[in-house]
Amino acid sequence: MSYLDIAQLDKTFARHAGDKGGKHEATGVHVVNNLSLSVEEGEIVALLGASGSGKTTLLRCIGGLETPDAGTISVAGQPMFSSASGINEPPHRRNMGMVFQSYALWPHMTVAQNVGYPLVRRRMASNDVDARVRQYLQLVDCAALAGRFPHQLSGGQQQRVALARALVAEPSLVLFDEPLSNLDANLREQLRFQIRELKRRIEFTGVYVTHDHAEAIFIADRIAIIRDGCLMQLGSAAELYDSPASGPVADFLGFTNTLSGRIEGAGDAATLVTSAGRLSVLASRIHDQQGINDQFVMKCHPSRTRIQAAGSSAVSDAAGLSGRIVDRVRASADSTQYVVEIGDGHTWQCTGALKEQLEIGTAVVLDLAPEHLHLFRE
Ligand SMILES: Nc1ncnc2c1ncn2[C@@H]1O[C@H](COP(=O)(O)OP(=O)(O)OP(=O)(O)O)[C@@H](O)[C@H]1O
Ligand SMILES: [Mg+2]
Repeated sequence: MSYLDIAQLDKTFARHAGDKGGKHEATGVHVVNNLSLSVEEGEIVALLGASGSGKTTLLRCIGGLETPDAGTISVAGQPMFSSASGINEPPHRRNMGMVFQSYALWPHMTVAQNVGYPLVRRRMASNDVDARVRQYLQLVDCAALAGRFPHQLSGGQQQRVALARALVAEPSLVLFDEPLSNLDANLREQLRFQIRELKRRIEFTGVYVTHDHAEAIFIADRIAIIRDGCLMQLGSAAELYDSPASGPVADFLGFTNTLSGRIEGAGDAATLVTSAGRLSVLASRIHDQQGINDQFVMKCHPSRTRIQAAGSSAVSDAAGLSGRIVDRVRASADSTQYVVEIGDGHTWQCTGALKEQLEIGTAVVLDLAPEHLHLFRE
């Protein structure tokens, strides 16, 4: 049994009067769909998915702000919700801290009163409240702001205060709903670092909703990919990028390079025959081997391709595809993104080091390691 256990959770919203037609008309909107998910103590799991995939609804079900139709939710062995046993603990009895996109500080309370509120509610002695508030404001670098009101703070400061408020009562679970989306890019980076730092200093278990891949990778120990209310895959960032479980997961993670073809041979000698060339593939990367004679689509992440000028001594024998650079953009401080035309009208995206920049028009070879080519049935 895990620390947070969610089993076979279902949540349907009644259709609104204004909604017309569509597949949900008769049944309402099925927003969480038979979803099971476990989070270990001391770990942060990110819920990553497109807009409308049900992330917030799932988080609100965990926090008790939304009542599921069916399933169970338990924390540290304590049932919080169980449709079968008729258990539904109200939010204040779940001992969870929450951080929202909108900060949601109480405007009429000072920073110190906001942070102290969860402790006052628990009837902690006022001396202890003061000491604990000071400690948590220090942890988020806001000790100097204790006497201010929320409207006298910047967005970043408000969110740090909201973080302190969510953590101050040492909750069993901390629920984050896109807490950094309202902040500018620099602040987002600072705060995601601060959240990791807080996690290191005061152990907590968290569920972190985001649609930002980089944020999920940075903050979470494991990532749950949510699509249409279903859990598509749960794993560390390395596990997801090394072995996406399905085509939709690969698409969602940005495996933008795709080629279709038939697989010839088997085992180590398997080859994908495409209109742009033949590629060595690994049996272990072929999903759903039942239909091995069918048409497959290969997906590869841009970061997993090595690009080299054709004829350069570094080109290996196993080189995959040849082509010509048709576009080039600076992708980050130290990398370049190329678009390479590989024949038969296909293009391939790949990243390269900025210091080994290649010119548009250069003939290149794309070195495609078979372990980075993932094959799914079309
Ligand atoms: N109270 C509600 N009544 C009816 N439908 C709702 C309600 N809340 C959410 N929905 C619907 O449920 C679906 C999932 O919504 P949810 O807010 O959980 O998505 P999300 O993954 O958090 O999206 P986003 O990334 O945009 O925040 C959407 O189709 C939404 O319209
Ligand atoms: Mg949401």
